[in-house]
Amino acid sequence: MSAPKKLFIKTYGCQMNVYDSERMAEALAVSGYARTETQDDADLILLNTCHIREKASEKVFSELGRLRALKDERPDLKVGVAGCVAQAEGDEIMRRAPVVDLVVGPQSYHRLPAMEEAVQKGARAIDTDFPAEDKFTVLAGRPKAARGPTAFLTVQEGCDKFCAFCVVPYTRGAEVSRPADRILREAQELAASGVREITLLGQNVNAYHGHPGGLAGLVEALSGIEGLDRLRYTTSHPNDMDDALIAAHGNQPKLMPYLHLPVQSGSDRILKAMNRKHTADQYLALVERLRAARPDLLLSSDFIVGFPGETEAEFEETLALIRTVGFGAAYSFKYSPRPGTPAAERPALPDEVADDRLQRLQSLITAQQHAAQEAMIGREVEVLFEKPGRMPGQLTGKSGHLHPVHVTTDQLRVGDIARVRITGSGPNSLSGVATIPA
Ligand code: 5AD
Ligand code: SF4
Repeated sequence: MSAPKKLFIKTYGCQMNVYDSERMAEALAVSGYARTETQDDADLILLNTCHIREKASEKVFSELGRLRALKDERPDLKVGVAGCVAQAEGDEIMRRAPVVDLVVGPQSYHRLPAMEEAVQKGARAIDTDFPAEDKFTVLAGRPKAARGPTAFLTVQEGCDKFCAFCVVPYTRGAEVSRPADRILREAQELAASGVREITLLGQNVNAYHGHPGGLAGLVEALSGIEGLDRLRYTTSHPNDMDDALIAAHGNQPKLMPYLHLPVQSGSDRILKAMNRKHTADQYLALVERLRAARPDLLLSSDFIVGFPGETEAEFEETLALIRTVGFGAAYSFKYSPRPGTPAAERPALPDEVADDRLQRLQSLITAQQHAAQEAMIGREVEVLFEKPGRMPGQLTGKSGHLHPVHVTTDQLRVGDIARVRITGSGPNSLSGVATIPA
């Protein structure tokens, strides 16, 4: 038997891309590819790309420049571009980058084996369709290989919200939910391979409607899977937090007390210009209801600063909202005009103004993150251990609140859930002492 061909996938962007990369590797395993962690011995290199901000897209073209040199040395090497840049700029990539052998969009990667075969015969292949068939029904079940204790599972894709800054509705297409029975089967396969925590993924995950009870119904159904101890979901839109899902945070013990609920801005005028379809007060009222259901819920958000037309006073309204909520973490971005989106037509703010706001917002968020971490000191939390720590004898895992926790122990191993008393807080993680294994 010939040695397996080697596949190297470089993943950019969000967790959905991480999930898609795994599924692409599994699809190409059927064509005889084994995944490798370095491009040096790869026969096929796939870039699974992100189009959300300009910087993310630019990275792809500079990486393709580097790969051209590699391909000059190794002419048999094949190069593919997948993901959202492939979807948005596939034709241009084919035109501008002769190094690229194949381009495949996020909705058509189940066709990769056939495309790879064509490429081996010397063709260049592009597929950026939104096919009628659902890729997940064409792809085989998850292989029974041993896995780490945490996994992602895409349950929903696409978005119908059309926020004025966002390319997702164009690159990932309309909102589609996977049927609950298929998700349950996949979750069972993952649990049987050693997975104890699943993060349900979707661009608008709480718009999920593949179960009669919506996302709350899916969470309840998944809670029945033996061996699966923890559930999370991301990313949510405030307008899709229905009563049942809010209640689930109080009555579903497997649902972890951390929620990523992007608000983007604290100014009603900017929220309207962003087409977010909710006000700052509506968001705050939602946070109150969630905390009534689950008092120790830790919240995180995304923020965009320097949106076209944002005044200093409007930016300060965002800071005020952050102070009112008290976030456990947040991701903040300088507004980046994206081709084809309504906001890209509007005059941009000067770069220095946006940079200054980003810095001020980030220092407030960092202070809140540290406060949330320090509030854990002295508390006992459950940690799922994911990997060995950096120090000898150390294990690293996550608490329910998604804090990384380091513990020095010879009693526990990766995959264990144990009670840990938190004793210290560093810049981005906690440390603690294991008490009784749970
Ligand atoms: N510019 C800056 N940030 C953006 N995001 C989405 N589109 C843009 C853009 N054009 C941010 C939003 C979103 C997160 C995934 O990326 O905050 O929630
Ligand atoms: Fe983009 Fe999220 Fe808005 Fe959808 S809800 S358009 S994915 S920012």
